[in-house]
Amino acid sequence: MRSKRRGVAMLATLVTVLACSPADAPTPPAAADRRAGAPGIGDPDFPSDGNGGYDVSHYDLVVDYTPTTKRLDGVATISAAATQELSAFNLDLTGLHVRGITVDGAPATFTRAGDELTVRPGRAISAGDPFKVKVTYTGQPKPAKDNANLGTYGFIPTSDGAFVASEPNGSKTWFPSNDHPADKATFDFTITVPAGVTALANGEMDEPPTTSGGKTTYRWRERHPMATYLATATLGRFDVRRGDTPGGIPNLAATDPKFRDSLDSLYTVSGEITDYWSEVFGPYPFSSTGGVVDDYSAGYALENQTKPLYGGFAPDEMIVAHELAHQWFGNSLTIRRWKDLWLNEGFATYAEWLWAEHKGKQTAEATFTALHQRPESDPMWAYPPGRAQPDDLFNQSVYTRGGMTLHALRRAVGDHTFFALLKAWTAEHRYGHVTTEEFVALAERLSGKDLGPLFDAWLFQPRRPA
Ligand code: ARG
Ligand code: ZN
Repeated sequence: MRSKRRGVAMLATLVTVLACSPADAPTPPAAADRRAGAPGIGDPDFPSDGNGGYDVSHYDLVVDYTPTTKRLDGVATISAAATQELSAFNLDLTGLHVRGITVDGAPATFTRAGDELTVRPGRAISAGDPFKVKVTYTGQPKPAKDNANLGTYGFIPTSDGAFVASEPNGSKTWFPSNDHPADKATFDFTITVPAGVTALANGEMDEPPTTSGGKTTYRWRERHPMATYLATATLGRFDVRRGDTPGGIPNLAATDPKFRDSLDSLYTVSGEITDYWSEVFGPYPFSSTGGVVDDYSAGYALENQTKPLYGGFAPDEMIVAHELAHQWFGNSLTIRRWKDLWLNEGFATYAEWLWAEHKGKQTAEATFTALHQRPESDPMWAYPPGRAQPDDLFNQSVYTRGGMTLHALRRAVGDHTFFALLKAWTAEHRYGHVTTEEFVALAERLSGKDLGPLFDAWLFQPRRPA
């Protein structure tokens, strides 16, 4: 699902093609190439992430995983619509062995090059047509590793299962996908594991798991559009507590046995915070909330949709407030380009400060003032958070200076307009995609102020704003 304006974009492409006279065209590519979907979705910072030429609406993932052998057997059925005529198209997939692919039930041929899986259906798919790709695959998933900044992410095998956290582009380590947030889709998960292992995916289980022949199958469903990096199938031994938040939202907390002591507080705090954010940011966008603590020291947490995942630590209230704020900022409202990451991390960081303020600890104003006093030499001032750098996406500036940007805005427009803006922002783009330009435009519209200089100083200048 690539929300809105798709028809217009397609038309524009057609017009461009038609307007381009053969005389000024360089050597035309082979006809077959012109009908092949692009190997990237068009994010200039991550040119091979995602793919062009189609738009996924649904992933049906059937996965069998055995922790002792670390072997995964998968069948991914991807429902998509062609946005151009397609003689071939790509999926993203790292490692793993592809056993076979069908497109609309007919065998397709495929080739692989790095993380690109190129699928060639028996006959070309017409522009606008829906189609279903079924990929049968197997192997030992290997997580993505980036020693510089991102650490280890994707499908990470653990002694009792797997820790699955895929931001920014680790979904391709465990299922073939259009692995970029610009294409969101709904998900069904059918996960089979040895009996005694719990499978925790996004959304809800409509039916209880079934066990036979020493294996248990869990069926999870996420009915709301989700970016691929938020998809999880975290597996292992877990203690689980379920119920509803005081406000009535289904709530599930799960902890690895090593973190059993934090199960009740994770459950209670996640419920309380989900309810509070529902008042501050607008109605909770999904059908359930919760959190998962696994015994893997990732060095980070991830806001997996409906089930934030905490890597090897019992989370405090601040980080729970952060990951749950992402359910609005990042998950319901999703960035089209990674450069706009402050729309996720700056907002979730500011939410931490709002939570402290709500709890009568430190006001956001006090937090802002203390941070603003950091010396000119602090690296945060040299990194403009409004333009996340591809080699250092999760820089502290994107979080902290991103959060400060929102406080500077709150000071400029006043509390009434600021909190109305947060709600209008989540309402206008619920389940959709967002850009920094859209946020600035809405802030200016609601406040009636020219906020260009403020956003420019806070988001785009390599120095400390006055
Ligand atoms: N979005 C996560 C958070 O703010 C951070 C994810 C970092 N990803 C990574 N591969 N290190 O909590
Ligand atoms: Zn975050």
